[in-house]
Amino acid sequence: MSTIPLILDVDTGVDDAVAILYALANPQFEILGISTVAGNQTLDKTTHNTLAVLEYLGRPEIPVAAGAAAPWMQPLHTAPQVHGENGLGNVELPAPTIRPQPEDAVGCMRRWIESCDRPVTIAAVGPLTNIALLLKSCPNLKSRIERIAIMGGGAFRGNASPVSEFNIYVDPEAARMVFASGVPLLMCGLDVTMKAYATKEDIDAFAAIGNRAGQMCADIFRFYYDFHMSGVRGKLPGCAIHDAVPVMALIHPELFHGEDAYVEVDLDGVYTRGCTAADFRDRGRLADKNTHVILDLDRETFIRQLQDAAARLC
Ligand code: BDR
Ligand code: CA
Repeated sequence: MSTIPLILDVDTGVDDAVAILYALANPQFEILGISTVAGNQTLDKTTHNTLAVLEYLGRPEIPVAAGAAAPWMQPLHTAPQVHGENGLGNVELPAPTIRPQPEDAVGCMRRWIESCDRPVTIAAVGPLTNIALLLKSCPNLKSRIERIAIMGGGAFRGNASPVSEFNIYVDPEAARMVFASGVPLLMCGLDVTMKAYATKEDIDAFAAIGNRAGQMCADIFRFYYDFHMSGVRGKLPGCAIHDAVPVMALIHPELFHGEDAYVEVDLDGVYTRGCTAADFRDRGRLADKNTHVILDLDRETFIRQLQDAAARLC
């Protein structure tokens, strides 16, 4: 089996934890390392959570590199109302004994990419600060990146604002640079991730798996599910597991539907800063299509994939 060399860039985060779990459970991925960024919570918390999840799920050997503590040009917005004060739905996993790499995320990503014998795929499921810094400081590495699968944006909707999705809204300058980089992009924005929800019954089924991975999902979903049910961001039949979508789309494209578009990040709009303006037109568009935008998925198979993944872990 040929594997996909993968770097995960995360701001762990309830749904980031599930994305990590899914990648760990699928041998199609060769995980080179995980980089962390500030977003859902401050960098110390997202890094702590990433280490804790890896150790709890029995994969302490995977290197973790801490990255940017703040966006490029604006103060950090976090999301304690969605992910809790600790970022993991206020569930306390055992304190990790493993530590981050001595080198920062950009240095580690550079080393992981340079020492890989094949082009590397990046799944970026937090603000794009680390990825933009990497592309800016090492532009020669672009040809060694197979593609960047992003949880971020939305062609037709926002959550942090009416038209801006959280990961892009937190660091729009970084996102703009990544979308303009010329690296092949797979965008899994709110168009599809709001359809990637887990119902109360789905969450109970995670607990019923009977191992620590299933129980961890059920536990961390509790606070997150209540937030989704509160209606603050509109009514959904469950909680959206956004970040698992791009990871799954890399190995199960048959479960997803998308279209190519020219996507650009707005920086200057009074009401639209951080909006991913997506132009699907064939004629009259502003520039060549730079992104494959995922718009739909088979939700039930998506959830089953996550549950099967949890069942394969400890
Ligand atoms: C994104 O924002 C974060 O809260 C989630 O982890 C996800 O990456 C959804 O807008
Ligand atoms: Ca995230």
